[in-house]
Amino acid sequence: MVSADEETADRSGPVAGLEEPAHALVTGASSGIGLAILGQLLDNPHVAFVAAVSRSAGRSDALQALLAADPERLMVFDADLTVEHDLARLSDALVKRVDRLHLVVNAAGVLHSEGLRPEKALEQVSLSSLQRIFAINAFAPILLARALLPLLGHGAPLVFASLSARVGSIGDNRSGGWYAYRASKAAQNQLLKTLSIEMARRNRRTCCVLLHPGTVDTPLSASFQARVAPEKLFAAERAASQLLDIIAHCTPAQSGRFYAWDGSEVPW
Ligand SMILES: NC(=O)c1ccc[n+]([C@@H]2O[C@H](COP(=O)([O-])OP(=O)(O)OC[C@H]3O[C@@H](n4cnc5c(N)ncnc54)[C@H](OP(=O)(O)O)[C@@H]3O)[C@@H](O)[C@H]2O)c1
Repeated sequence: MVSADEETADRSGPVAGLEEPAHALVTGASSGIGLAILGQLLDNPHVAFVAAVSRSAGRSDALQALLAADPERLMVFDADLTVEHDLARLSDALVKRVDRLHLVVNAAGVLHSEGLRPEKALEQVSLSSLQRIFAINAFAPILLARALLPLLGHGAPLVFASLSARVGSIGDNRSGGWYAYRASKAAQNQLLKTLSIEMARRNRRTCCVLLHPGTVDTPLSASFQARVAPEKLFAAERAASQLLDIIAHCTPAQSGRFYAWDGSEVPW
């Protein structure tokens, strides 16, 4: 369980123990949980800079409205996180704006898209859908970390948080199905657990965590909400504030762990 450590957690700042204005990056910022997290970071006066990233960020009305209201603090950037050239462009653009990042929230992810549905049975498993889902859910977060490396080794507090999902838990898998999504989240968990160990050497004040947001009312979950009790379906704003609260209490002691929205640990 993540608990508020009164000595280390700064309740008003987005990252525990940070003694300088925060620089953040949010992926998946054009929709759902990422967009809600971005809005709440921009509402926080301790945040001096946020980069908002998605493939369609530049075409998002919501992001353009936020940019018009706060052009000094917000950078909106189009990047496909599964394309290494886009990650390199993102890194180049960031180093022109800031010398460090204190918070990275990776909220980009896919459950379904055109021609891609979560599998109900083995017959529906295909190499192309496995590759598409793994590319964004599993490979993108670690490639993002590699691209951002010049901005992470600064020695100030750093939280690298990535959205996972309870269905990615191998220990908790009782109902089967959703092969590619489940496995991609499990693979992400292992890649970022491994990152947490290396980051402890590169910046000993890093907390690298996986987060399960609960079931959240977004385009990703829209077709799968029929059997979710209304009280268990969170608005994106509520999920964002719960996740930002966990993030604000993350210290190196929590690094390499997998937390649910209520602060409880999820089994791998
Ligand atoms: N909603 C839930 O109930 C729920 C439950 C458990 C876990 N999660 C996880 O939470 C995260 C956020 O989900 P959400 O519900 O907020 O989903 P969402 O509303 O569908 O948003 C997904 C975001 O990912 C971006 N994205 C997708 N592919 C991308 C790519 N190749 N490169 C860059 N950005 C990409 C999308 O923007 P563009 O299309 O503009 O690129 C969009 O901003 C996901 O990792 C999801 O697995 C969600």
